[in-house]
Amino acid sequence: MLHAPMSPLADGPVCRLRSLRSVALTVPDPIASRDFYHEVWGLSTVDEDGDRFWLRATGTEHHVLDLRAGDVNALGRITFAVATPREVDDAARVLEALGIPLLRAPGPLDDAGGGYGLQLVDPEGRTIELSADTFAVPTDEPAGRRAVPRKIAHVVLNTTDIERTAWFYTRVLGMRVSDWSERQMAFLRCNSDHHVIALNQASWPSLNHIAYEMTSIDHFMRGIGSLRSHGISPQWGPGRHGPGDNTFSYFTDPAGLVCEYTSEVAQIDEDAWLCRTWRRTPELSDTWGTAGPPSSTIRSAMAGIPDLGARALVAAHEDYFYGAPETAGVS
Ligand SMILES: [Fe+2]
Repeated sequence: MLHAPMSPLADGPVCRLRSLRSVALTVPDPIASRDFYHEVWGLSTVDEDGDRFWLRATGTEHHVLDLRAGDVNALGRITFAVATPREVDDAARVLEALGIPLLRAPGPLDDAGGGYGLQLVDPEGRTIELSADTFAVPTDEPAGRRAVPRKIAHVVLNTTDIERTAWFYTRVLGMRVSDWSERQMAFLRCNSDHHVIALNQASWPSLNHIAYEMTSIDHFMRGIGSLRSHGISPQWGPGRHGPGDNTFSYFTDPAGLVCEYTSEVAQIDEDAWLCRTWRRTPELSDTWGTAGPPSSTIRSAMAGIPDLGARALVAAHEDYFYGAPETAGVS
């Protein structure tokens, strides 16, 4: 009797993601971007090396944003926390068995935040880093009423194949779909936050936006006020989204990338939550009715420019990325 070979995913995903630690961005003028995020947005520079900058929020992560120079805007990397170096090594073995390319084998990370990790490539060429044992950083003094971000709340990724990409982030990396917005957006969680990644069906892969969590709705509003004092107005918001129930106010940074202040994201009870599919209506994307439609400027900035990342590496592993996965019905 013949048996089909066991899938390396038969025992579940390759790892258990604990949180989204940080995002790396490539921008043409990292000094201008650093000045914005440090002097206006509320992050603080924790380390620098020439024109590369690491900025932290007030939470426990060594840094949440890594800015480096490049010809055009691009998503450099998204880093997720796993619990132990052993889990990094175990993940590498399963990824290798799956035929998923590693940009970096498990080992010490030569990054300002230290740690032990690996880097893999997602189906559209994005670099995903899994890390453990990064440098511990005591949380800053309570921010009081200062309008400073606590952490990255979520990253929204434009994707050309939302079903396949959702399959990858759920089946391979173990995220769960909290909600769909029709078949246009998928909201993915790795912990109790409603989403840390959202996928948006689009014409090309790119970064849609990065959201920074403010401690409370009061801090959120103060943040908007603080930007106004620098002459910067929201390009969409303030408002509150239906999916995720979080507040939103969107801005563009000096590189033209979209950044968002948010707060009060829905907390998920893993045992009780039921994924639903939201209709895409103005009333549900702006439940307070305060934000109005997004400006053409912010829509264009959210679309971004095609970001090919390590697409060539993906093409070289097309057996896995374009052949095997059964993507229908991810929910
Ligand atoms: Fe957002």
